[in-house]
Order: sequence, then structure tokens, then C-alpha cells
Amino acid sequence: MCGIIGYTGRLDALNVLLRGLEQLEYRGYDSAGIALLSGKGDDRLLIKKAGPVAALKETCENLKVESHCGIGHTRWATHGGVNDTNAHPHIAGKVTLIHNGIIENYHNLIEKFGFRDLLVSETDTEVAARLLNYYYSGDPYEAIRRTIREITGSYAFCIMFEDIHDKIFCVRNVSPMVAAHMEDGSFVASDVTAVIPYTNRYFVIPEYQIVTLGQDGISVQDFEGNPVSPEMLEVNWNIEAAQKNGFPHFMLKEIHEQPEALRNTITPRLENGLPDFSEDGILDEVLSGCDKIAIVACGTAMYAGMVGKALIEPIIKIPVSVNIASEFRYESPLVDEKTLVLVISQSGETIDTLAALRLSKECGAKVLSIVNVKGSTIARESDYVFYTHAGPEIAVASTKAYMVQLASLYLIGCRMSMARGKFTEAEARTFISRLTDSISAVQKILENKKRIKEAASLVAKAQDAFFVGRGLDYAFSLEGSLKLKEISYIHAEAYAAGELKHGTIALIEKDTPVIAVATQDHIYGKTISNIREVRARGAFVILITKTGAEIPEDICDIHFAVPVSHDQFSVFPVAVILQLLAYYTSDMKGLNVDKPRNLAKSVTVE
Ligand code: AGP
Repeated sequence: MCGIIGYTGRLDALNVLLRGLEQLEYRGYDSAGIALLSGKGDDRLLIKKAGPVAALKETCENLKVESHCGIGHTRWATHGGVNDTNAHPHIAGKVTLIHNGIIENYHNLIEKFGFRDLLVSETDTEVAARLLNYYYSGDPYEAIRRTIREITGSYAFCIMFEDIHDKIFCVRNVSPMVAAHMEDGSFVASDVTAVIPYTNRYFVIPEYQIVTLGQDGISVQDFEGNPVSPEMLEVNWNIEAAQKNGFPHFMLKEIHEQPEALRNTITPRLENGLPDFSEDGILDEVLSGCDKIAIVACGTAMYAGMVGKALIEPIIKIPVSVNIASEFRYESPLVDEKTLVLVISQSGETIDTLAALRLSKECGAKVLSIVNVKGSTIARESDYVFYTHAGPEIAVASTKAYMVQLASLYLIGCRMSMARGKFTEAEARTFISRLTDSISAVQKILENKKRIKEAASLVAKAQDAFFVGRGLDYAFSLEGSLKLKEISYIHAEAYAAGELKHGTIALIEKDTPVIAVATQDHIYGKTISNIREVRARGAFVILITKTGAEIPEDICDIHFAVPVSHDQFSVFPVAVILQLLAYYTSDMKGLNVDKPRNLAKSVTVE
């Protein structure tokens, strides 16, 4: 998730770019940069630095430059640390490039074209710039076509060639990019947010087509050079709405970004259908050399860990503990040099989790962290980092970060099972195929939200709500309960279904909402028995099962079925149902969904 802006026209390009970067900063704020063509001779101005757009703006304050063509970028780091060198734009010979996406084969390209000694940054983007320059001999379209043919991965490229003074060239695959032309000139941006101040008519840049932005218009051509007329769109959002891409809240936008976040986290780590962490620098010895695993995290991240435990422990058959970081750091944890500590943190700055990491290292353990923010403190202090690629998560309630934490635990669990001889390659391939199928299961839930909204209208009336499940279902009920309570302020608790009889069922009365998750075949009957018990006491039951499960008569008031082929993977679509249930409940209660009371996005205080 990065922010891209490009402009060529009669306005002052520097102002247009800086304003656009401010609008796009929600997409990534590790670093920012701009490149300007003066239009005279071959001089090109490049300014880029780590830090927010405000720091870049300050640097540009006293700049005396006349330019009407330029590109700008806000970075959400995926490859390479957060520093000035890795910030975009990247220059290679006559080429200036900004990029949003992940080039999966950049290492191969470095070797194939002998770029190693030319590179100054750690980014995959610079490799693409080198390749464009390698192929550029005056024809930008030929250079772009030949480069794209060599690349695998996702990209939104904005390219300037030093000797073509007033044009910007764009091409994309998966990563978003829109373009617009008006009398003041032509614009390209990651999303419509940055275009709205100038026009409400735009088009989505078609994948694998080359768009040329000129001061007097925009042309689009396919790879054979045939002209293309893209579909023009109109937007009637204000700026604030546009940053949410038209969604009413960041949380709903981020729930919808989950398929892309999953693809960006999983796909770069698959080689021939098997998990491959060579680019992460995580060797099999790290995964096979330990005799126990301690998962340490807070909140949602800790609940992702609960799912990880429920998945991994039965396969690798060594103890996997899940530890609340704020407790772990003050205990005398049974952690030593044979322990692999798995730290999970979206922000990479949670103080309790960081303290637990430091204690683990004092005890001699190796720390592998699953982190979403590149270069964050937890990432920097870990022995190994498994970055998730969810992009910036703005809403306080974690959704897409949770989803990619799960995917990361599934990938690590699979690779660990192979390394420990618990999975044959064939079994691992099947596991990975089911994991990638989960992305379309998530998409299906996102395309059928209406009944979830209806269910929320009933939950919204409650003071208390209970989530029940067994095994994996219990593990992801915990997260469902946290989501509901933290944004709707309804007192929600998750219980192992078999535990209800030991006290909690005393709280069930007429119309008490019970959200029951029953997707695990081997214990389905037991969970249904527990649901009967709460039904007998008047509970309002929302039941979530796998598609095709046998639903007993009058067992629930509302039933959701998730399209998964195997129990282990139901967590992905179930998580979306529980996220949406919480979201709609909070929104119906007129609460501040993105900034719930008393909470902060990153808990950097004890
Ligand atoms: C989740 O919805 C909450 N925002 C909170 O529990 C969060 O998951 C927790 O504070 C951990 O944050 P981290 O992942 O950034 O470490």
C-alpha cells in the first residue's frame, strides 16, 4: 500500500504533488518523495526522505523550481528498511520510477541482468527502474513492454524518462491506479482521493495497458500499441470520504482490503505451490530446532496466536503456548535457547509485546516476529521478521492485520510441519492450496453482507452477548468477541462451548444473543448440544457453520454458512462475518467505528 501521484500540465507541479501526497498519506507514511522535470535540458530534481509528508514539505519550502511535470510517492515499506535511500522515486539512468506493489522475482532479475553492483537501495522498485533503463533507447513503450514481460508480481508504475520532458507513463497489474485529464493538465494517482480537488471525472487505468499522460491529454494503448478508450467514471465524494475510497469508515474499507492483503502476504512466499521463506531469511533450522513455541502478543494479535496454537500444536506435537504479553513480561516464563518465541504485532510498537520480546532474548530464545509495519521497533529487535503486507491499518479495530497474521501463522505452521517431517510435500501443497482458496471464501462473504447487517440490527439491542465454540472455533470466537465489545461497547465474552455449563449459562436469559461457531466436524455434535442448552434458556442464536452442515430443527434464529473445503480454513471467512457483525452493530448504534472510546491504535504505554 503506497501512495502514488503524477501530474503534467500548466499548474505548478510541486504544489500539485505535495497536496496529492498529503491526501494519499493514509496509504503509507514511512517516507515520501518527489521528482520534477524542469522541461529544460536534462535536469531532473529529486527530493525524498524517510518520515511523513510534512517533513518532505518542509524540505521543499524554499525550493525555487519551475516545473510542470513530476511524480510523487508515499511509501509503505515492503522491501528494504525505512530510510531516505529506499524512499521513492528511484532513478536509474534516464528513468525515474515510483511503484506500488511487490515484484516477486526481483532477486532473479538482479542476477539475470547483473544489476547487483548498480543498486544503491534495498528495494524491488529500483530493480524495475534499472530494467526500464536497460531497455530504454528512446522508445518508452518498447522499454515498458520488455520490462513488464520480465516481471512477476503486483505493480502500479509511474515512469518519467529524462529526455521526454512533459510526459508521464503508467502501467499497472493488481495495484490500483486512476487517471484524469482536465484543462489544467493530466493526473495519475493510487486512488481518487488525490484527483478529487481537480476533477470528479476519472478512469481506472486498465491492467497491462500503457497510459501516457501529456499536458494536453491522456492516451491509452494496449501492449500491441492499439489505442484503447477506458471507461470514464464520476465520483461525488468529498476529500474525507475519498480517503476511505468511498467507504463510510476506514474499518469497512480495511475489511474489504482483506483479499488483497492476503494475496500480498501469501503469494510472494509461494514457490511451486510450497511455502518458501528464503526472501524472509527464515531458515528451516529456525523452525525445526526448537522444542517448544511461545506465542506472545496483545489483543487481536494474541487472539490470532490462539488460532495459530490450535492449528500448529496438533500437527507438530510440541508445546505451543499463547501468552498475554503484559503478563508474560512479569512472569518467569519457561523460555530458553530451545524455545522459539513468536511475537505478533501489527504496529510493531506495542510496549508490552516489545518488553516480552526483550525478556525472551534475555532468556536465550530466538525471536521470530510477525509484523505489519516495516522497520518498527519489534521488527528491528527480532532475530527474524515475517512481514505481513496488509498496508496501513487506520481503524483502531484490527481487521486486515488480524487476517494476515492468521495467514502468516498458517504459512509458518506449514513450513514448520515440512521442516519437522510432519508434512510431505504433497500434504504441504494441499494445505497451501486450501489456504489460497480461503481468499475467495473471504471474497464471497464480502459479496453477501446483507444478512450480516440484519443480524447486527438484532445484536445492537443487547447489553451482553456471548460467543461460543470448540477447538479452532473457540479460538476465533475470542477475536469475534473482542471486535464486538471494542467498537459497539456491548459486553461480549467468548467461551469454550463446553464451559458454559460451569457457570456462565446462568447469565443466559430470553433473547440473550449467542453467536455460536461450529465449523469443526469432529466436535460439531458437541457444540450443537451446547447450543441446545442455551436455546432452552431463551437465547437468540446466530449459528455459523460450514456450507453443507446438517442444521437441526429450531437450533438457531439466524444461520450463516461459510464456503470452505476443510475445517482448518474456516477461520478466514468466519472472521469476516464476525468483523462485519461488529462493524454494523457499532454503526447502527451511531458510535465512532474507527475511533472507539478509550482506545488507541498502538498501545505504546504500559
Ligand atoms: C484490536 O482490534 C485492537 N486494536 C488491539 O487489541 C490490538 O490488536 C493490540 O493493541 C495489539 O496491537 P499490535 O498488534 O499493534 O501489537
